[in-house]
Parts: sequence; C-alpha cells; structure tokens
Amino acid sequence: MFAARQTFNLFQKRAFSASASQASKVTVLGAAGGIGQPLSLLLKLNPRVSELSLYDIRGGPGVAADLSHINANSTVTGYEPNTEGLHAALKGSEIVLIPAGVPRKPGMTRDDLFNTNASIVRDLAKAVAEASPEAKILVISNPVNSTVPIVSEVFKARGVYNPKRLFGVTTLDVVRASRFISQVQGTDPSAEKVPVVGGHSGVTIVPLLSQSGHASLAGEARDALVNRIQFGGDEVVKAKDGAGSATLSMAMAGARFAESLLRAAQGEKGVIEPTFVDSPLYKDQGIDFFASRVELGANGVEQIHSVGEINEYEQKLLDACLVDLKKNIQKGVDFVKANP
Ligand code: NAD
Ligand code: LMR
Repeated sequence: MFAARQTFNLFQKRAFSASASQASKVTVLGAAGGIGQPLSLLLKLNPRVSELSLYDIRGGPGVAADLSHINANSTVTGYEPNTEGLHAALKGSEIVLIPAGVPRKPGMTRDDLFNTNASIVRDLAKAVAEASPEAKILVISNPVNSTVPIVSEVFKARGVYNPKRLFGVTTLDVVRASRFISQVQGTDPSAEKVPVVGGHSGVTIVPLLSQSGHASLAGEARDALVNRIQFGGDEVVKAKDGAGSATLSMAMAGARFAESLLRAAQGEKGVIEPTFVDSPLYKDQGIDFFASRVELGANGVEQIHSVGEINEYEQKLLDACLVDLKKNIQKGVDFVKANP
C-alpha cells in the first residue's frame, strides 16, 4: 500500500515536472452533463492541464466551484451561459472538448439525435472559430460521423479550417474493443490493442481483429465479438433505460484522448490514437472523414495511417461502413450549407 502510494506520488511529480513549463488551457463545452462532469474531474486530475475552463448552458459555475477544491495546481473556472461567457471560456484554449448535446434513449439511433445536436454543435463551432480558432477540437457529441463535418464546414466558411486540429472522438470504441476481447480470451484488457476504423455508429464501427493478438478468432465467436463492439453503445443505452447513454466510460475515453494530445504537444513522439479525422484514405470515393490510427504531434494530426492489411471478412465490414459513412458525412455538410 505504502509502496503503491510512493509510486503514485512519484508518477504525479514526474508528470508535473514534465509539464511545468507548459501552460495548457483545456475547455469543456457541455461541462455540467453526464459526460462533462466526470470528464472535467479527470482533466482536473491531469497535471498537464494548467487551466480548466467549463461552459454549459446550465450549471457550469457550480461544477467549477466543486472541482476547484481538489488539491491539484490547475485553476478551474466556470463561465456564465451567455455569449460573453462562452467566448471567455474559449479564449486561449489549446484543447476544446465538446460533449454538449442530447444523448440517446432506447430505440433511437445516433442519427436520430441529428435534428437537436446539429445546431448545438454548429453554434458552438462558430464560437470556437471566433474565440479560439487555433484550438484542437475534440467532438464527442453524436452523431459524430455528421457533427465533425459540421464543425469543418463552419470553420471553412470563416477561413480558419485546419484539418490537423479537428478530431471526432472514437476512443470509446477502442476502449470497448480491448475490454470485450479480453473477456472472450481471458487476457489483460489494458494490454489488448485492437484497431477500430471507420466511424462512430453501428456498422461504421469496424474492428480489425486480424490486427489484434487474436487473428485466429473466427466463426460465431468472432461475429459476436464484432457485433458487440459495433453495438456496445446500445448495451449502455438499454441498461440506463431512458436516463441516457455511456457517460463514465466516455469520460475516461475523452480524458485519454486529451492526454494523448497533450503528451504529443509537449514533445512526446510516437503517440498514436485511432480518431475520426479529415483523411485522404477514401477521398477518391467521396468520403472526406475516416477514423484510423493517427499519429499525434505538436500541431495535432502528424500522420494518418492506412487501415493496413485486412482479411476478406473485414473488407466486407469496411464496404458496409463506407456506404453509411458517406451519407452521414454528406448530411452534416448539407446541414451547414442550408443553415449557415
Ligand atoms: P447530457 O444530457 O447528460 O449532457 C449534455 C450537456 O450538454 C448538458 O449539461 C446540457 O446542458 C449541455 N448543453 C446542451 N446544449 C448546450 C450548448 N449549446 N452549449 C453548452 N452546453 C450545452 O448528455 P451526455 O450523456 O453527456 O452526452 C452528450 C453527448 O455525447 C450526446 O450527444 C451523446 O450521444 C454523446 N456521446 C458520444 C460518445 C462518443 O463515443 N463520441 C459517447 C457517449 C455519448
Ligand atoms: C456510445 O458509443 O456509447 C455513444 O456513442 C453513445 C450512444 O448513443 O451509444
């Protein structure tokens, strides 16, 4: 116990001294929500974050007051729910995480959230484009396959779009894949690495088991595992029975992605996360965004990896993914063109 505490303290000190020279302001838009609160807690505990900025249409200052009592060095500020508050929350941010918007209820698809969340994300993107156009933007709000293109269109219209700085957060799919495969194989989930490519909804989520340490998985066991990874979100929506969707696991996944970006920004090399980005991989098929393994760097996207070698089964999954993804992306683009 004592040894464990000593190791933790050493880790904290190392992490702090590694980042003491860096001032990283991180902003959460939707900070008082189911994801926003635990995500903000995890960011408050991250020594790489020097300034935590919280905004929500309700409850931001309360969450900030609560978190500000935690004995970590960063400052925490909650902003009033108005334009001035939003702009002040964003100004000077290195990273902006967006979990604002409504979650699913049983029986809904992520696309069913489009009518409500598209305008929420569009309006927040406008504010980011004005107040912190240089920030790296991490879109969590669903449907991610459409909300990421919405942000890009808003930025393009204002002449401030930098594709290296816009990310759809698909980390939860990767987290789930490593957990679910470990349950089937009886292994350590933290050691499992399963690339998940495509997008973030149903069949657009494509796990590449052939590139995991369990390439020999086949037949019904493989099909069931792939299905569970693709529809893992539904499990939580069903279990919460109308009270929303994944919040705690999503907070962990969002905090992990933000930490990876901060590590890369602070000079660490070889930081790779699968994420949904403006990607050259399938542009020849009219698909401008795609999630694959992306190496992160000081400016955001450093290098986009291709899907690599896949088997016939995975090629079929990918073909189905691309059909839906194309429509989802176009829907986001069309929305901003029709509702600028
Ligand atoms: P929630 O309803 O608990 O919280 C959403 C928060 O957003 C609320 O506090 C609300 O006040 C706030 N909000 C709404 N409009 C806003 C605006 N214009 N500006 C600022 N804040 C605003 O929902 P949740 O469970 O936290 O989920 C949020 C979103 O994240 C949903 O769209 C959900 O589908 C999505 N999600 C994505 C993933 C992923 O893997 N990318 C995982 C889980 C959930
Ligand atoms: C998830 O994957 O858990 C999220 O996208 C939320 C949802 O609606 O399933």
